[in-house]
Amino acid sequence: MNATIATHDFSDSQALANALAAQVAVNLRAGIAQRGHAVLALSGGSTPKHFFAALAQQELAWAQVSVTLVDERWVPESDERSNAAMVRKLLLVGAAAEARFVPLYEAAPTPDAALADVTARIDALPQPFDVVVLGMGPDGHTASFFPGGDHLSRALDLHGRDSVLSMRAEGAGESRITLSLPRLLATRALYLHFEGAQKREIFDKARTAPVSTTGYPISAVLTQDVTPVDVYWCP
Ligand code: 6PG
Repeated sequence: MNATIATHDFSDSQALANALAAQVAVNLRAGIAQRGHAVLALSGGSTPKHFFAALAQQELAWAQVSVTLVDERWVPESDERSNAAMVRKLLLVGAAAEARFVPLYEAAPTPDAALADVTARIDALPQPFDVVVLGMGPDGHTASFFPGGDHLSRALDLHGRDSVLSMRAEGAGESRITLSLPRLLATRALYLHFEGAQKREIFDKARTAPVSTTGYPISAVLTQDVTPVDVYWCP
């Protein structure tokens, strides 16, 4: 049986960003009310920019929120491709600057050299997470689950024990570090956020495609039956 997938359509990116930010804030407030804290894992790339800015405006007890990333490019925060730098610049501002940020990158030459450390940081966070927001690339990747990635099958193994893996793939640019699929599915709310008719076509195909190391990795999220997925998108 496949995951329950609910699709929420918006007319433009700002309406999409506002609605997703409002919904994520509802989830975070519920976590804080019920457990005293909430954990939010975010994607990088370009799509989340408006969403981060809208989320930063939400009224909530930010000091009770831990923010981390679902994946990171292995570059320092001084690099314009750093997802951490984008989170700091667009989300962790104003009242939201009180949130605790748990970065994936650290000053080590490779993600493999830092893997034990990053795994310890992620495993120290309360589980399950409250919210995970995934993005999707035009090749059907999500997090750093890239087609042909060197650790892709391990990362997608629903019964695997790794919470964090390094990833190298032709389409990825620099080396990456990524949370594993089972770690990302261990969340109270799971969102997939994308824009554009081309990505919508990939999403529609990936929903029914078999999971393989060369197909669309997002299929692994859309065909699992562990965690329902709420899709927020606009053309
Ligand atoms: C990353 C991401 C990645 C992203 C997709 C979509 O670090 O690259 O976390 O998985 O969500 O690549 O990126 P765009 O929004 O730029 O298309």
